[in-house]
Amino acid sequence: MSAQDTPPAVELHVHVEGTLEPELILELADRGGVALPYVDLDDLRARYAFTDLGHFLELYYANMAVLRTAEDFAAMTTAYLDRAAAGGVRHVELFVDPQAHLARGVPLAAVLEGVSGALAAAPAGMTTGLVPCFLRDRPAAEALEVLDALVRADVPLLGIGLDSAEVGHPPADFAEVYARARAEGLHLVAHAGEEGPAAYVTEALDVLGVERVDHGIRSLEDPALVRRLAEAAVPLTVCPLSNVRLRAVDTLADHPLVAMLDAGLAVSVHSDDPAYFGGYVDDNHRAVADVLGLSLAQVRTLADNAVEAAFVDDTRRAELRAEVATWAAAQESAPTS
Ligand code: ADE
Ligand code: ZN
Repeated sequence: MSAQDTPPAVELHVHVEGTLEPELILELADRGGVALPYVDLDDLRARYAFTDLGHFLELYYANMAVLRTAEDFAAMTTAYLDRAAAGGVRHVELFVDPQAHLARGVPLAAVLEGVSGALAAAPAGMTTGLVPCFLRDRPAAEALEVLDALVRADVPLLGIGLDSAEVGHPPADFAEVYARARAEGLHLVAHAGEEGPAAYVTEALDVLGVERVDHGIRSLEDPALVRRLAEAAVPLTVCPLSNVRLRAVDTLADHPLVAMLDAGLAVSVHSDDPAYFGGYVDDNHRAVADVLGLSLAQVRTLADNAVEAAFVDDTRRAELRAEVATWAAAQESAPTS
């Protein structure tokens, strides 16, 4: 696939803090007078070789030190939306980690004002939604307090998610949080089966009642779960470049994406933390198409699955379906090189 040959994208798995590019980290630090432990850009970039999720999360949380004001959050979000639009994103459901900022003394209002304000001014034609995630390695009681504050805040919320260090932090710990969010009419998603076991995917479905699973690649270890996910068409938001960079898989060529498609799972491709993992959603599509040798039909299925998994109304879903169909028709009639 070459430039412009990736499908119109529906980005359902991207953490806004994971879009903070190294250049912007240094610029915001400079602007805000924040001291960072890096001598320069090369020094910062040299730290992007991760051994696992925990190793990545250390840097991810440390770099958030530069996010202090609503303007900082707006600058990060606007930079992401501009890059996303250039990469063909038509709809984005954006994760944000409020507790990571509250823990540093940044008021929730600054986070929400900055991110939501930027989303409200998204590039023409792009639709957006905000999905705050709770940090599963912090107490559920704290998540409940933050959920209350989020619901009271005067910003539109699409749903809630669950992220951060997975192993040892099962979904069931957050049963009450999810029950309350459901009662508030929010959509429910959770990271599960990224580094954690297939049993966490089952638990996220059974105990939390999630509508989508983020990652879910380890579901393949449980054939009964695979059958269930396929039969119920539960969307799995898979992030191939992330899985390689966090060593959930050895190389992209070893990625189970095709096995997941072949098993009839409702998988779609997303970026997770694009500034850290070497690519935005278009880069992820291009990489899997090239390395896994995906057919146009397989790429189309991935794009269609993302459209079906989006939390949008019927009118918007029909528009997104039509954009993918138009793109696929153009690909079919394009001369092959
Ligand atoms: N927070 C940001 N990126 C994450 C990931 N890939 N898994 C869990 N938590 C995250
Ligand atoms: Zn993620």
